[in-house]
Amino acid sequence: MSDPTTDDTTDPAEPSLVLEDVRKVYRMGDSDVVALDHATLEVAGDEIVALVGPSGSGKTTLCSIAGGILSPTEGRVVVGGEEISDYSPKQLTTFRQDKVGFVFQAVNLVPFLTARENLLVVDELGRRRGAPARQRADQLLEELGLSARAKNLPGQLSGGERQRVAIGRALMNDPALVLFDEPTSALDTKLGEAVMELIQTEMKSRGIAAIVVTHDERMVHYADRVAHILDGRLRA
Ligand SMILES: Nc1ncnc2c1ncn2[C@@H]1O[C@H](COP(=O)(O)OP(=O)(O)OP(=O)(O)O)[C@@H](O)[C@H]1O
Ligand SMILES: [Mg+2]
Repeated sequence: MSDPTTDDTTDPAEPSLVLEDVRKVYRMGDSDVVALDHATLEVAGDEIVALVGPSGSGKTTLCSIAGGILSPTEGRVVVGGEEISDYSPKQLTTFRQDKVGFVFQAVNLVPFLTARENLLVVDELGRRRGAPARQRADQLLEELGLSARAKNLPGQLSGGERQRVAIGRALMNDPALVLFDEPTSALDTKLGEAVMELIQTEMKSRGIAAIVVTHDERMVHYADRVAHILDGRLRA
């Protein structure tokens, strides 16, 4: 582990994510939508997997299940060695605070908080508070090249800077797995590549696994592996 303050000792030999025969059915009135069907995927300790598929194929659903935002209808979900398949909503909340990071397409930073405060908001909920949290936020802001922007509000940042703040926020809790749902789709190609490069560097240097959802085939070479998804079915 590159960060000596890490109190989770994730075994690098252990997969960061195991999805086994996961099925997700959304109830829509009296009809069912099968968003994931027999989805099986293993992501190694520090692997970056690109998840590619057309709109509606189940990418966001897969990320939501891997990150404990949604529970699967059927199947097993194990993240960083912890099986979450049957967790209650309360258990999932604690799990999310401890184990995963999220970066969404619409960056959803809190608009009235500064860049630094947007990182610290994670730790208001999590385990590390007060001075250690502020130290961690400042260290991440520096590593992401944002020290000079720490006091800016999201509206005073560029698209790439906002995306970097979102990445910093996702790293605050030393996650075992970070889920990126189309992190580059709102950015032009050049900025998109810069953000992918940053994701690659940050994940590899920290030994953190990631799933990166993308529509854009030009972004997949930043990943170790590509998983394709179509109509809720994965194929490697
Ligand atoms: N909350 C929901 N209730 C009902 N159906 C849903 C819900 N969320 C998603 N779906 C349906 O499940 C399927 C998969 O949706 P999902 O959002 O996972 O796709 P996606 O691959 O992320 O698409 P996009 O690339 O457009 O973001 C779609 O048919 C969608 O309409
Ligand atoms: Mg989606």
